[in-house]
Amino acid sequence: MTTEVRTASPADDIAEILLDAPTIATRVAELGREITAEYAGKDPVFVSILKGALPFLADLMRQVPIAVSLDFLEVSSYGDSTETSGVVRILKDLAHPVEGRHVLVVEDILDTGFTLRYVLGHLRDQKPASVRLCTLLDKPARRIVPIQIDHKGFEIPDRFVVGYGLDYGERYRNLPFIGVLKPEVYGRR
Ligand code: IMP
Ligand code: MG
Repeated sequence: MTTEVRTASPADDIAEILLDAPTIATRVAELGREITAEYAGKDPVFVSILKGALPFLADLMRQVPIAVSLDFLEVSSYGDSTETSGVVRILKDLAHPVEGRHVLVVEDILDTGFTLRYVLGHLRDQKPASVRLCTLLDKPARRIVPIQIDHKGFEIPDRFVVGYGLDYGERYRNLPFIGVLKPEVYGRR
């Protein structure tokens, strides 16, 4: 006798897909070409912010066929909700100093700007040769702190999105697309 095990799929909680996987892949390849042209011969370090930027970093770096190194920061800004607190804390700092290096910050989404203001300041304190920003998503309607974006994937409307690294309560990061949750999902955790 076999027992049927039914596992709810995170994809079932999605109301609408904003950016499907091929659309993301095409744009990431374009960003890769821009970044390759900009950093050829500069031995840059890509500093990525855990955990949301991981899928983006993994795809982007494979579209940049020059010498690069990687480092990671982990910060907390939101806790488990969808509202920003404005308070940013470093949970994990860089493994190597970036003094004198060309730094490209690789981030998933720029929302209010509190997180990146803190991260960019933290990096600039270490006297790198340059610091530039690549973000996959930009929600300009939510901006409180002005931040210059050097490489931008997509502008999106003021909606809370999940997938391709982005979470709600630590879930949905593994979806291969970016979408909006069904309203009834909020409040489940
Ligand atoms: P900011 O400090 O408000 O700019 O927020 C940046 C961080 O908030 C991002 O790195 C994400 O972790 C999180 N965040 C902002 N908007 C969203 C969203 O729509 N979905 C999931 N996470 C988000
Ligand atoms: Mg993030």
